[in-house]
Amino acid sequence: MKNIAEIEKRKTFAIISHPDAGKTTLTEKLLLFGGAIQTAGAVKNNKIKKTATSDFMEIEKQRGISVATSVMAFEYLGKQINILDTPGHKDFAEDTYRTLTAVDSVILIIDSASGVEAQTKALMEVCRMRNTPVIIFINKMDREGRDSFDLLDELEDILKIKVRPLSWPIGIGATFQGVYNIYDKDLNLFAANKTKISEDIVSIEDLNSSELEDTIGEGPANELREELELVDGVYDEFDREAYLRGEVAPVFFGSAINNFGVKELLETFLEISPSPQGRESNEGFVAPEAKNFSGFVFKIHANLDPNHRDRIAFLRIVSGKFERNKFYNHARLEKKLKFANPTSFMAQDKSIIDEAFPGDVIGLYDTGSFKIGDTITEGTSFSFKGIPSFSPEIFMELENKDPMKSKQLEKGIQQLTDEGVAQLFIQQPGNRKIVGTVGQLQFEVIKYRLENEYGAKCEFQPKRYYKACWMTTNNQEQLDQFIRAKSIYIAKDKDDNFVFLAETPFLLQMAQSDYPDIQFHFTSDFKVEQEN
Ligand code: G4P
Repeated sequence: MKNIAEIEKRKTFAIISHPDAGKTTLTEKLLLFGGAIQTAGAVKNNKIKKTATSDFMEIEKQRGISVATSVMAFEYLGKQINILDTPGHKDFAEDTYRTLTAVDSVILIIDSASGVEAQTKALMEVCRMRNTPVIIFINKMDREGRDSFDLLDELEDILKIKVRPLSWPIGIGATFQGVYNIYDKDLNLFAANKTKISEDIVSIEDLNSSELEDTIGEGPANELREELELVDGVYDEFDREAYLRGEVAPVFFGSAINNFGVKELLETFLEISPSPQGRESNEGFVAPEAKNFSGFVFKIHANLDPNHRDRIAFLRIVSGKFERNKFYNHARLEKKLKFANPTSFMAQDKSIIDEAFPGDVIGLYDTGSFKIGDTITEGTSFSFKGIPSFSPEIFMELENKDPMKSKQLEKGIQQLTDEGVAQLFIQQPGNRKIVGTVGQLQFEVIKYRLENEYGAKCEFQPKRYYKACWMTTNNQEQLDQFIRAKSIYIAKDKDDNFVFLAETPFLLQMAQSDYPDIQFHFTSDFKVEQEN
């Protein structure tokens, strides 16, 4: 069947890292391999181009961070590779977490000198929640970094995942000579080369042969043999099934900027990483091979062109075949929709597509029909679960600074929160708007966008809340009583669910012990979880 062949052809993944570990550089090198770009620097140039055409991106330029998530697709060795890019800045962590629901595996980059950093840990926790298979790339081996065994220990200790090196560095920094590919048993010698992808590969079947000395010198040859022996002694054989279950992470070493170790990473990735996987829905598990098309929206990108207020919804296809101009169900709106101009993201071009398959991400032009997490189906209507919405960490009350523009403010904040820029909670009396985010930067983004896109002016007043807690209970009377008693800390989320805005961990604990029949949740998707 055509669909099965198409599914097996695809690999959909994200590259994640703490800022500056080399995500942009590695992405660019992968695109070079795929022939999607011809020269290095194109990804960064594209960033700059986007900045110039979008007001929203002005903030990105000012901050020098990548705010937007984008998709890059290319073909390599007969596979279609879909890379979902994620913003590196921690204030946009929730955006990254949502993107991780749309991939089947990740490549995690570590800077060999810095080791595990704060964002690395947070991202790994999200991968662990869904058992996402992870490959680790230890980058910047051309610089003086840490001892490789120490780094591997640190990965296991802090990231709480077993590791298994599949390549091994010969020296580091000034003495860095190359990488031995444990998986393919060949030696790749280092020649710094920032723009081309030629590599000098020597196949060494027998590590004890004098060929190794002839190639890298006596000292390094002996050291490599000893280290490889240690690797085999310390780490279990690579077990692909354990990797696919998210229990063990294969590790590669290299230098992205020098194009070194990238080919080993890419080719092994293509061999071992999972093809598109199914997803859980409120009607049970949906396999990619299912006949009917289904998919979910994990990202909404606004204002690509500041002259039009159009948005683009990013839809991950889970099952079946998507076809242009065919009517599909929009589960939440209980509406039929068809899409005349769905786009694919091959390299940097956006072109209209007629069909797409599981694992693909397509862009749908949106005039306000979509929210993050929306499901589109063919045949019966159902909803995918598990687009996590975490409790925000910073809360501010939105104040209107231009009474003549109340309507614009209302519409603007509604649309921005539909896009997932922030979460909106409404408090009574007076319809007060509490905006919750993961980071401070989003408030600047919201203020800027409300002014530039909607002509509305606002200020934010800090609120000292610790968490927003969604509630469930089997004792409705107790919940009603709680809501009455704590009315000044109660608000409604965008779907009209009550939330308790707890000021401190202590006050939350008090509420838990005073109202034992109420369960308090830090995520908003508990309902779907409970239904299953
Ligand atoms: P990010 O997207 O994860 O934030 O990282 P990015 O790729 O932008 O890389 C961060 C910095 O690390 C860049 O330097 C980049 O050139 C450098 N880098 C990436 N890979 C390697 C590597 O293998 N070895 C070494 N030595 N450096 C590497 P920059 O000075 O911040 O930017 P640029 O002026 O080079 O563009």
